[in-house]
Amino acid sequence: MSAAPPDSRLPTLRELYASHEGKVSDKWSLYLDVYDRVFGRHRSGPISFVEVGVQNGGSLELWSRYLPEATVLVGCDIDPKCAALTFDDARVKVVVGDVNSEPTYRAIRAHAPTFDVFIDDGSHTSRDIVLTFCNYFRHVNAGGTYVVEDLHCSYLARWGGGIDRGDTSMEFLKLLADFVNQPYWQRERAPLALLAPFFPSGARPDPTAFRDIVSVTFYDSMCVVEKRAHGAVAGLGERVVVGTDASVSTDPLARRSTRQS
Ligand SMILES: C[S@@+](CC[C@H](N)C(=O)[O-])C[C@H]1O[C@@H](n2cnc3c(N)ncnc32)[C@H](O)[C@@H]1O
Repeated sequence: MSAAPPDSRLPTLRELYASHEGKVSDKWSLYLDVYDRVFGRHRSGPISFVEVGVQNGGSLELWSRYLPEATVLVGCDIDPKCAALTFDDARVKVVVGDVNSEPTYRAIRAHAPTFDVFIDDGSHTSRDIVLTFCNYFRHVNAGGTYVVEDLHCSYLARWGGGIDRGDTSMEFLKLLADFVNQPYWQRERAPLALLAPFFPSGARPDPTAFRDIVSVTFYDSMCVVEKRAHGAVAGLGERVVVGTDASVSTDPLARRSTRQS
């Protein structure tokens, strides 16, 4: 499950940002290192990429250099001014509209029916982050990565956040960690019921795809959610007990070859 080492011939994202002179991009320093850590395995294959939040287009320019083998890089922004942006790289496509509107959803998926990388750097409001995850994570490919940026907004009232609220983007993302451990819940809990705080007055989304989450990693203001790779077996697998000297407890020896499902 360890990330594949990045191709050492490729520049790091920090190096690319340090030498960038084109369209403006606005990212926090920490994110550059996190992306280098978690995107290594996506850099040398024909992946499809989506970023919500284009603004000046700088991040799309940088992502296109960072991911030389990507087949398509789709940016989505609600700001109509983004429609006028032009890119030298024909793989870059811009969709203008609210990421959670039906036409925008269709337009994004017309460019990229499924995604290997999906970054939510859009409105940063809790409601949009939750909705976007529910609408798009199901189309992330096996082994793909979904990232949410600027989660400090989850604690700020202006973005629908607050440490004491139960319906924020951070509360939702923390709930996803429970889905990683769903086989151990002990009590019958309908996954849909867990989504109730986030959808108080409307239909709740289908959480089936949440079963394929293998990890939820939090950094300062950033969350990285990984989807199970093709052929990867769900669960803990076999208990690996090795060695012969059990002078404190022989319990591990008795558990040899048991399987936790
Ligand atoms: C922080 S900026 C993106 C910065 C860019 N990714 C970068 O790294 O330079 C956020 C952008 O999200 C856009 N946005 C806000 N709400 C949105 C929505 N509902 N759907 C799509 N884009 C949205 C804003 O118009 C704004 O341009």
